[in-house]
Order: sequence, then structure tokens, then C-alpha cells
Amino acid sequence: MHNAAFKASGLNWCYLAYEVRPEHLREALEGARRMQFVGLNLTVPHKLLAMEMMAGLDDSAKQWGAVNTVAFEGLASDGSWKPLRDFAEEAPGEVRSKGYNTDAQGLTAALKEDLGLYLEHSRVMLLGAGGAGRVAALQLAEAGVADLFLVNRTQDKAEALAAEIQARYPKVHVMTTYPHREVDLVLNATSLGMKPGDALPMDLGRFPLTDTKAVYDMIYRPAQTPLMACAIESGARAVNGLGMLLHQGARAFEIWTGRPAPLEVMKAALREEVYGH
Ligand code: ATR
Repeated sequence: MHNAAFKASGLNWCYLAYEVRPEHLREALEGARRMQFVGLNLTVPHKLLAMEMMAGLDDSAKQWGAVNTVAFEGLASDGSWKPLRDFAEEAPGEVRSKGYNTDAQGLTAALKEDLGLYLEHSRVMLLGAGGAGRVAALQLAEAGVADLFLVNRTQDKAEALAAEIQARYPKVHVMTTYPHREVDLVLNATSLGMKPGDALPMDLGRFPLTDTKAVYDMIYRPAQTPLMACAIESGARAVNGLGMLLHQGARAFEIWTGRPAPLEVMKAALREEVYGH
């Protein structure tokens, strides 16, 4: 999606994927800095490790304790630090890294665009309390959810996450049970639904999907998970997690280029790559 976006924006840039072992992350980042990359993205398990390898951190990275986007800045002759994209003729005196996190905006932007859902004062049931579940819970709390129901196979993890949310966001009403009445959203942040034959990530006997307005599944492959199929059968709206991937990427594009992301171009490229159409 980034290469399509660069092309559509007339930028002679390219986006490449590198597989880096965690123990080599520091050297890889140093190499990118020395080669004057404009920026890069990091994925699991590098997002947490990179926190202490950045010269500077944007508030977004500080808030979530993870870096998924790095932008390099150069020292200009006037003594100011500028994004590397701004060095066309002049060579930067020194280059430093700055870490951002665009995942949070990815989830809220996707919920707004794909479901027309605004989280403020809403009631949400979140399935999963692993790495993805924790970040989703923090994002929901930050966005002003009123009631948050955390459901996880391992109850202890749901309790620990509830305690963390409660400490950081005392206004949010957090429970580690199934909701007893209707919710606005059921959000799946477990890995259940990725593999054929996976069970549903929730017990429909304890909460029927007729009692939610919408289901958001963070999984995007397959395009329709069994949970989404059940939701649609129950008359709820259901969308997959492709929008999250799109929007975190669009925000990264904006950080690197200083231009608005060509969203439609990026969405089409992403769909082509992931679904082949
Ligand atoms: P990620 O970083 O993708 O969130 P993770 O931290 O391993 O990965 O979390 C996976 C999530 O999927 C957890 O909520 C996990 O439940 P547990 O905390 O009980 O392990 C959930 N999950 C994975 N396989 C599951 C299964 N077979 N049944 C129920 N939940 C499952």
C-alpha cells in the first residue's frame, strides 16, 4: 500500500520489507539511520524493543509504550531538526530517530470509517487480553468508552488488564464478565478465527450477537471469520480488521511525507495484496 501511495503521490521512494532478528534490531535501526532512510515501520516483536533505541519519542509512542513507526530527522545548517524528506540539496549534518505509534489511530479511524462508530460513552465487549487485546483496551478507554467488558479464556489476564485500565482511566467502568444487556460493539482481539475450524472467540449462550449493534474483528485474513458470519446472521454489522492496517499505514505515510495519504489508492493496493481483488 505504501508503494502504491508513493507512486500516486509522485514520490520516487520505495517501501521494502526486511526480516530482522530481535537481537539485531539496534544495528538494523542504526543502519537505516546511516543510510538516511526517511523512515520505517516495525512490527512484533520490535515495537516494544525499539522504545529505548529511539533518540526521541512522540507522545503517541510514550502513551502506548510501543513504536510502530520511525521517522528520521536531520540537522539543517540553520540549526533546526527537519524531516529527512526536506533535505533535497543540502546534506543533513546529523541524523536522529523519532518513534511514533500509529496503531491507536488505526483502530479508532477504522471503527469510525467502517462502522460509523464513535466510541465516546459507548458500551463495548472486548474479546482477548493478550498483546493485541491490551492495546485495544487502552485505546477504547482513551477514546472515552463508558462500559468495557473484558472477556478472555484466561480470566487472570482479563483481571490484570482490567486493573491496569481502571488505574489509568478511572472514569471507565471495567468489568471482566459478559455484558448483561445490549452493547454497541463486540471487538475481537483474540487470534481465534484465523485458522480454518477455529472455535468462536466467545460463548453465544452467554451473550447473543443479536444484542450488539456491530462486530469488529481485528483479523483480516480470512476476510470473513466465523464470528463475523454469526454476527451477520444475527442482524449485526460486521467488518474485518483490514481498516486498522490501512489507517495505521496512512498515518505513517503522513508522518514520513508531510502529505495527506491517498487513502483510496492505499485501500485498493491492500485489498489486492491481501485478497487478490
Ligand atoms: P496477540 O499479541 O495477537 O494478542 P497473544 O498475546 O498470544 O497474541 O494473545 C492471544 C489472545 O487470543 C489471548 O487473549 C488468548 O487467550 P488467553 O489469554 O487465554 O491465552 C486468545 N486465544 C488464543 N487461542 C485461544 C483459544 N483456543 N481459545 C480462546 N482464546 C484463545
